[in-house]
Amino acid sequence: MAHGQTPAETEEQFARRLTTTVSAGFVTLGVAIGMRTGLFAKLSSLDGPRTSIQIAEAAGMKERYVREWLAIMVTSRIVEYNKEQRTYFLPPHRRAVLHPHAGEQVVHMPEFMRLLAGVVTNVADCFRQDGPEGMPYSAYPGFQDWQLGLRKRELQTNLVANFVPTIAGLKERLESGIRIHEAACGRGIPTLILAQHFPNRTFVGTDIDLESVQWAATESKERGLVNATFQVQDLAKLPADWSDSFDYVLVWDAVHDQADPEGALREIYRTMKPGGQFSMVDIRGHTELEDNIDNPAATMMYGVSLLHCTPVSLFFGGRGLGAMWGQELAVSMLQEARFTNIRVLDVPNIAGNLHFLCHKP
Ligand SMILES: C[S@@+](CC[C@H](N)C(=O)[O-])C[C@H]1O[C@@H](n2cnc3c(N)ncnc32)[C@H](O)[C@@H]1O
Repeated sequence: MAHGQTPAETEEQFARRLTTTVSAGFVTLGVAIGMRTGLFAKLSSLDGPRTSIQIAEAAGMKERYVREWLAIMVTSRIVEYNKEQRTYFLPPHRRAVLHPHAGEQVVHMPEFMRLLAGVVTNVADCFRQDGPEGMPYSAYPGFQDWQLGLRKRELQTNLVANFVPTIAGLKERLESGIRIHEAACGRGIPTLILAQHFPNRTFVGTDIDLESVQWAATESKERGLVNATFQVQDLAKLPADWSDSFDYVLVWDAVHDQADPEGALREIYRTMKPGGQFSMVDIRGHTELEDNIDNPAATMMYGVSLLHCTPVSLFFGGRGLGAMWGQELAVSMLQEARFTNIRVLDVPNIAGNLHFLCHKP
């Protein structure tokens, strides 16, 4: 059997396997509904099995909808069902994974899938030779908000307590006086958190998306921060007078989305001070497809890539690296951009990301 091939199967076996796959898609949408309605939280708060009527009453919801949703949860083995009592029960180990603040961020992906499902026909149109090149960020209403929620949960305590200490000397340098740039910052959560913790340092957050930059600036004002500014900048064309300006640059989950990722890395390098550090946090994956086949998150991330990351890059006439560009290509592009001491690190408590830490000599 060649690498990556599935074991031999009959037509009937494949049809059954496809049925399971399609069912999993509906389970994902059911999980999104469970998160959105708070039904998982309600089930988790109950001290034992309950009927659908009791669950609906406790949740203040319509029983018929709750019962149909429970049926998906039972047949997908998320909720346990007692047919004699007609009761439903969410076991404790599943409550932990389905908790909005669970260590496993996968619980937030069903909502992302729901959001991306809205653009399936538009992306399908992009496949045609005479179809659109890609999709603008504006075609994804709700994306920046979803990402905002994810970043808050991932980073609120994790960033300073666990991520910053993985970069030797950064905490001391943050305390002593350095300039920091977060590029392609979206809603700028890392910058807002760091600016709050290190009030004597200067932070600049940039993104090409005006609405995100405005949101971050307003949020910064509401938090009473005077050391963080946000501005619209194309990462591939940073201002000429920013050369050798920053001691530390951070890009969270955004280099693979760029229309011109090589240009973006060159600009980051140019605008860093000699001796400066660059943290590129990106998706965990390998460059070669065959090296991702055994990764249980690979299909999900290729899906995110097909429906979002690739079309937003191609829309700008970009390269369309995709979310699964992989650590091998990432390292070689960092080398190409002249970064040195490149290290590939885990991101504490975030299994789906890798941290490429490197220097400008
Ligand atoms: C996946 S989002 C990540 C946002 C943010 N870093 C976060 O992790 O929440 C990618 C971001 O890259 C930004 N972006 C895309 N192309 C850009 C460019 N040429 N210059 C600056 N930002 C860009 C998008 O507007 C978007 O906010």
